[in-house]
Amino acid sequence: MIKLTPSLLAADLLNLGREVEQMTKNGIDRLHFDVMDAHFVPNLSFGPAFCKAIHKQFPALKLDAHLMMDNPEQYLDTFLDAGASSIIVHREVLHDPDIMVRKIHEKGALAGLSIKPATPVKALLHWLDETDVVLIMTVEPGFGGQKLMRSQIEKISLLRREGYQGVIAVDGGVTLENAPLLKDAGANWLIMGTSYFRAEDPALVARKIGEMQ
Ligand code: DX5
Ligand code: ZN
Repeated sequence: MIKLTPSLLAADLLNLGREVEQMTKNGIDRLHFDVMDAHFVPNLSFGPAFCKAIHKQFPALKLDAHLMMDNPEQYLDTFLDAGASSIIVHREVLHDPDIMVRKIHEKGALAGLSIKPATPVKALLHWLDETDVVLIMTVEPGFGGQKLMRSQIEKISLLRREGYQGVIAVDGGVTLENAPLLKDAGANWLIMGTSYFRAEDPALVARKIGEMQ
């Protein structure tokens, strides 16, 4: 099943509440929430207080916290308490993904592992059984509005060939044009920043992804 999860990074910053409200009216029930620390990636974005404020206003909306940061273990509880329904951490900064996954599961959230373009799928293989979501970065993390790296699509098919049955999320440069390719490779969550929030008609984008089932 294909699901559109818009990335808040591309929303109109001066109207975030209205943007989220409109998104829910378009039938969307998951929001991708990018957290950047200016160390793991060369940018800063949203923090836990903002996550909490969205959760308070939109309790039915599922928030996927994509932690693009060093030391994510120090912030797990903060984001879970702020209402995140899934926590996606980068494999590159984890010594022991087991501990991380266990802690997230203890709090009843989905546990996700993400890899940057230079990190191979084999870095995840040992943990696939316990991972609910694998997020494949199809751009270098840090900024929205980049072009999807087609070379990364192969990672999706490889994960499916390895027998992974959980959610595969694709993040970076996803558009209505490349969505069918991603779906055919085996992706489930299409994270769309620019091509959803900056589309002329986001409702139409949501409808078109909905029709791809
Ligand atoms: C990039 C972020 C993405 C970003 C995607 O580091 O993880 O979630 O918002 O934005 P677009 O869809 O514009 O590439
Ligand atoms: Zn992201």
